Amino acid sequence: MRILGIETSCDETAVALIEANADTVRVLGNALYSQAALHAEYGGVFPNLAKREHAKNLVPLLAQCLSDAQSMRKQKTAFSAEEKEQVKEILSREGNLYEELIALVESIEKPAIDCIAVTNGPGLEPALWVGVSFAKTLAKLWNIPVMPINHMEGHILVAALDKVGADLFKFKNIAYPALALLISGGHTQLVLAKSPLAYEIVGDTKDDAVGEAFDKVARILGLAYPGGPEISRLAEKERKEFPDKAAAYPLPRPMIHSKDLHFSFSGIKTAVLYTVKKIGALTPALVQEIACEFENAVVEVLVKKTKDAILGHDVKTLIIGGGVSANKKVRADFAELCNKLGIDLMIPEVSASTDNALMIALAGSMHAASGKTYGSDFKAEGNLTL
Ligand code: KG4
Ligand code: ZN
Repeated sequence: MRILGIETSCDETAVALIEANADTVRVLGNALYSQAALHAEYGGVFPNLAKREHAKNLVPLLAQCLSDAQSMRKQKTAFSAEEKEQVKEILSREGNLYEELIALVESIEKPAIDCIAVTNGPGLEPALWVGVSFAKTLAKLWNIPVMPINHMEGHILVAALDKVGADLFKFKNIAYPALALLISGGHTQLVLAKSPLAYEIVGDTKDDAVGEAFDKVARILGLAYPGGPEISRLAEKERKEFPDKAAAYPLPRPMIHSKDLHFSFSGIKTAVLYTVKKIGALTPALVQEIACEFENAVVEVLVKKTKDAILGHDVKTLIIGGGVSANKKVRADFAELCNKLGIDLMIPEVSASTDNALMIALAGSMHAASGKTYGSDFKAEGNLTL
C-alpha cells in the first residue's frame, strides 16, 4: 500500500510517500522544509506567516517527493471545468496554491498512491487548514481516499521504526501495555496504550509544554529560537567541562513529589527569570551553567513521572516522541531508566523525532490496515486530542 503523508501543523512543511508492507516501510520520498529560521525573528512561530509559507512550499515539496519516488512521469492530464471549480473552492483561502497545484497535476501522470494521510490537529489552525485543504484537493483530483491523522499519534508510531536499509524500516513489535511520553513544543503528555491504536492520556501539563519551556528559557538567556537544541548544546558542554559541579543557582523540580502524573513547567521558567534578574549581567559561562541546571531539572521531573506511570500501569514498552526527544540527556537518562526497569525503549532517530510527514504517512498506513474508514468532510482542529 502506498501512502502519501502531509504535515503542516506548525513550522515544518512536509510531504512523504511510503510503501507499507506487513511489517516493513519503504520511504520512497520524504521532502521537508523547515520555516524555523523565518520564525526565529519573531522568537516563536507566527501563525499567519506559517500558513503563507506552507501554501508556498507544498507544491514544490510534493513535486520533489514524487520525483524522488520516481513517480513523476511527465504527461498531460486534463481535468474537467467542473472538477477544477470544485477544488478551486476548497483552496479558495490559500493564496496561489490552487494555480500551482493544478499546473503540477495537469503536467504529470496520476501517481500510484492508494491513500492520502494528512495531519488535522493538534497545531496552529490556519497552518493545519493549508495541509488539510491541499490533501482534500489531491484526493479529489486523483480520486483516492484521504484520512485525518492526529499529529501526536504520528510522533508515537514513528518511534517503532527501526532502520534496516537506506530507505527501509522495520516496524518493531510493541509489547503492550505501552506508555508514550510525548514531549514537544505544544505537548507534555503521558499516553497509555493498552492495545494498538487505542490511547488514554494519563498525564498532562497544567501550563507550559516542555519544549515551550525550553524555548522560553532560551529566550530569557538570550539564545536563538528554537531554544531546545541551543540549551541542549550548552548543557552538554557544561557537563563535559565541569562534570561534578554543584549548581550555583539551583532550580525547582516542579511537581516532582505530587502523587499524580501531571506536569507544570511555567514555574521553572519564572525561576530562571528571577535568577537572571538577580545576577544582573549574564556572562556566556553563566548562561551555560543555567542552561545545564534547567535541562537537569526538566529531565529529572520527566524521568520521575514517567517511572511512576510505568510502575503504576505495568508498562512493557516506553515510547518517547516529539521534538524534545531529540535531546541527548533525555535519550541517555531514559535509556538508563528502561534498562534498570527491564522494559523496551523506543525513541525515533533524531531526524524523525521533530515534525515530519513520514510519521503521518506511517500512522495513515496503520489506520488503513486496521480497516478504519473515514469520510472526507473532516476539519482542521487546533486542539485535537488523542
Ligand atoms: O515536535 P516538534 O518538532 O514540534 C511540535 O509539535 O511542537 O517539537 C519542537 C520542540 C521545540 O520546542 C524545540 O525547542 C524542541 O522541540 N527541541 C528540543 C531539542 N530539539 C528540539 N528541546 C530540547 N532539546 C533538543 N535537542
Ligand atoms: Zn510535533
